[in-house]
Amino acid sequence: MDKNYYITTPIYYPSAKPHMGHAYSSIIADFFARFKKMDGFNVYFLTGTDEHGLKIQRAAEKQNIDTLEFCDQISQTFRNLSKTLNLTNTDFIRTTEERHKKTVQYLWKELEKNDYIYLSKYSGWYSVSDEAFYNDDEIETIDENKVAISSKSKVEWIEEESYFFRLSKWEKPLLDYYKSHPDFIAPESRRNEVISFVKSGLKDLSVSRKSFSWGIKVPNNNDHVIYVWLDALTNYLSALNFPNANDELFKNFWPASIHLIGKDILRFHAVYWPAFLLAAKIELPTKVYGHGWILSDNEKMSKSKGNILDPLEIIKEYGLDPLRYYLIKEVSFGNDGNISQERLEDCINSDLANNFGNLCQRVTAFAIKNCESKIPKQIDFQKEDLEILNKYMNNLENIREKIDNQDINFYIDYIINSLFEANKYFNDQEPWKKKDDQLRLNTIVYTTLEIVRKISFLLFPIIPNSSLKALKIFNLTEKDINFSSIENNDFLVKGSNINKIDILFKKIEKNND
Ligand code: MSP
Repeated sequence: MDKNYYITTPIYYPSAKPHMGHAYSSIIADFFARFKKMDGFNVYFLTGTDEHGLKIQRAAEKQNIDTLEFCDQISQTFRNLSKTLNLTNTDFIRTTEERHKKTVQYLWKELEKNDYIYLSKYSGWYSVSDEAFYNDDEIETIDENKVAISSKSKVEWIEEESYFFRLSKWEKPLLDYYKSHPDFIAPESRRNEVISFVKSGLKDLSVSRKSFSWGIKVPNNNDHVIYVWLDALTNYLSALNFPNANDELFKNFWPASIHLIGKDILRFHAVYWPAFLLAAKIELPTKVYGHGWILSDNEKMSKSKGNILDPLEIIKEYGLDPLRYYLIKEVSFGNDGNISQERLEDCINSDLANNFGNLCQRVTAFAIKNCESKIPKQIDFQKEDLEILNKYMNNLENIREKIDNQDINFYIDYIINSLFEANKYFNDQEPWKKKDDQLRLNTIVYTTLEIVRKISFLLFPIIPNSSLKALKIFNLTEKDINFSSIENNDFLVKGSNINKIDILFKKIEKNND
C-alpha cells in the first residue's frame, strides 16, 4: 500500500495580512496531514505564498515599497500564522524563490516543446483581484463598473501581445479524464460545475503578460512574464524539486494525494492545472477538493465589507484549539458556513468544556481517589464494557475511508457521539456505588480511561495541544499516538500512575440578556 501522502493548501497572496478564510484552508489541511501521520503515513504538507502578478505589484506600489521587500514582509506574516495555527507543514514555498522559478521555466519549455504554446494577441477582460481572464458573458455592470459575475471583482480591458496555451485541445481529454477518474474533483457538486464549464467549450488561455514585469520571465523572451496562475500552480511541483528526476521527494510524493482549495479557485486547479500537466506529460494529482467559504453574516469575509474575523484576535481571546475545533465542526465541510463569536463560545462550553473536558476531569479525579492514582490492575470486562470499547475497533476502517473521502463531518460527529456515550456510560455504571466491589469499580474506571485515551487520539488532528494535555493523565506523549491503536482495549499500562491535569477548557461566562 502507498504509505505516502502529499497534501497542499493554496499558496496565499501576500497582498494583505492573513484572514480567517486563509486560516480555514490551512487548519483543514493540517487536520488531514495530522490524521494521516497518526495513521502511519509519510506526510508531505505544503503551504506558502503566491507572490507574482499585477495584484501584488500594485499592492506594493500603493505602499511605496519595493515589491520583493513587500512580499518578504507579508509572506512572513503567513509563515508566522502557520506557526500560530500549529500547522505541521513540511515546507513553506514562496514563488519568488529560485527553486520555484527553475521549475516554472522548465514547465514552460516543456509546453512549448510539445507545441502547446504560441504567440498571439489578447484582447479581453482581466480582473487583477482574481488574476483571471473573463469572457464577455462572464461580466456584468454594477454601479457603472464592469465586474466579474462570479466574484464581483472589477475587471479591466486589456489588449496586448501574449503567449497562449492551447487549452482548447484539452476539452475532450479533460472530460474523458473526469469520467474515468470520478474522484478527481470533489465534492460532487463542484465536479458537476467543472464538467459543465468544460462542456461549454474551452478557449485557448493567455499565459503571459507584457505590460508589467513582476513575474517569472518567459524563457527566450524577456519582454513577457509568465501568467501568475501558471506560475503559482507549479509550486506543487517545485516544492518537490521537480524536474530533478533523481529527487526522492518527487518520486515519493508525486502525484499529490490532494490539493485542498477554496471553491473560488476551482477552475484553475481542476481545468487549467490538469491541462498543463497533461500537455507536459506529467501525472495528475489524485484529487482536487474545493471547500466552501467561511461566511460572516451570510457574506464572504472581505476587507471591503469590513466583516473580517481576525484569526489572531480570536486566538488571543479564546486560544488556538477552540478556534481549530470550531472551524472544523461548525462549517459543514464542502459547503459554505457562517461563523460567529457567539457560536464559538457555545461550542467551547458545550463540546470542549462540558463534554470532553468534564469527562477527563471526572474520571481522573475518581481514579485518583478510588484507585490509588493508578491505572487499575485487576479488571474483568463485562458485556457493557466491551460493547462500548469495541465500537472503536469496529469503526477503524470506516473512519479511514471517511477521511479519504474528506468526510470531516462524519469524523467530528463520531467524536461528539463517542463523548456523549462515554459520559453516559460513566453515569449509568455509577462506579461511586461500587465501592464494595473493587473489581467492578476498577473495570469501569479502566474502560472509561481507555475511552478517554482513544478519544484523545482521535482529537489529536483537531486540537493537538489539548489532546496532548489530556494524554498527560497517562504520561503519554505525541510519539505514542497512533490511529491503529484505538482498536486496542488494553493499551493503558495497568498499575502505572495517573496524573491530575489542569482544566482543559475554561467555560465562557455568557450574559443571558
Ligand atoms: N494565490 C491564489 C491561490 C494559488 S494556489 C496555486 C489565491 N490566494 S488567496 O489568498 O486569495 O486565497 C487562498 C485561499 O483562501 C483560497 O482557497 C480561497 O478560497 C481561500 N479563502 C479566501 N477567503 C475565504 C473565505 N472567506 N472562506 C474560506 N476560504 C476562503 O487564491
